[in-house]
Amino acid sequence: MTKAILLVGGKGTRLAPLTNQTPKPMLKVAGKPVTEHQIVKAREAGITEIVLATSYMAEVFEPYFGDGSKFGITIQYAVEETPMGTGGAIANAADLLSLKEGEMVAVFNGDVLSAHNLSAQLALHHSKGADVTLYLTQVSDARAYGCVPVDDEGRVLEFLEKMENPKANTINAGCYVFSQRAIASIPRKVVVSVERETFPNLLTQKFNVFGFVDKNYWIDMGTPQSFIRASRDLILQPSLSPATSLNRSHKYPDAIVESGATVHESAEIGGGSFISSGAIIGAQSNVQGSIIMDNATVGDNCRVENSYVGVGQAVVDQSKVISEILG
Ligand code: GDD
Ligand code: MG
Repeated sequence: MTKAILLVGGKGTRLAPLTNQTPKPMLKVAGKPVTEHQIVKAREAGITEIVLATSYMAEVFEPYFGDGSKFGITIQYAVEETPMGTGGAIANAADLLSLKEGEMVAVFNGDVLSAHNLSAQLALHHSKGADVTLYLTQVSDARAYGCVPVDDEGRVLEFLEKMENPKANTINAGCYVFSQRAIASIPRKVVVSVERETFPNLLTQKFNVFGFVDKNYWIDMGTPQSFIRASRDLILQPSLSPATSLNRSHKYPDAIVESGATVHESAEIGGGSFISSGAIIGAQSNVQGSIIMDNATVGDNCRVENSYVGVGQAVVDQSKVISEILG
């Protein structure tokens, strides 16, 4: 049996105002919460037991995901009264999984969407007898991420969280496989950062830490613009995530228009837009690559492009809204 922990307890400060009423992992990307994309991806790689490590707005997860039976898996909830940091959250959640010696667990940052080959990452971990196997990707500017140089055999040399002058362009893409032994090394009941403490400590103590480099689609939706981009990408390329709905109307083949939305017949909707139930789009308006949330209104003769129109927000007639966040 393969198990997983999803880190869904962060506050998502950079995503405000989107996260004022919804925690980041519950924001809908291509019509489904980020966490749901991750759960379905995990299940497709053979994972059957998942713990959500919650803190900020912890109470909203269980009503949606329940015991996991509707996804064909088991879901449990670990709640941190005060945030324990990424490492503390992993240790706390792992206590619900009763890991046995030799068992492994996959860990996901709750705001990352990727088309990487999780099954191959798990297989690499197993074949190397690794303690930790980190999914790595390549970016042109690594400053905002964990910079992870590896040697020719894929061994991780250093873990350098958010540095000004990155040593490499391979970065931590936010999905790890841990052995039971590596999980057991994390101190309990204290705040721990997996990036700043656990990974550097494991390397100092000569644990076997490997990198799994995969250059398929990857996005950290930590900012409003990356969140809009993620939703657009998944709608335009449904194969990126098995959770993305394929139930498209003939009229709007490259958008998701929920059944409770009211779209004027002369309006154009496309470019990977998501129109939520209860939204209203007026006559002659054109919405491209945007997210229009519940009960939001776009008036007549508007152009909305690459933007987020939040719950209940109104775009007045004849407006142009380009790359804006109306929250
Ligand atoms: N349960 C719990 N408790 N979850 C937490 C806590 C906590 O105290 N703190 C953060 N998280 C969750 C967040 O909700 C998020 O899903 C994940 O941990 C990572 O936190 P972020 O705040 O999104 O970190 P980041 O984007 O700045 O950096 C991380 O992700 C990058 C890749 O996207 C790091 O892991 C970097 O090394 C990495 O490159
Ligand atoms: Mg992040």
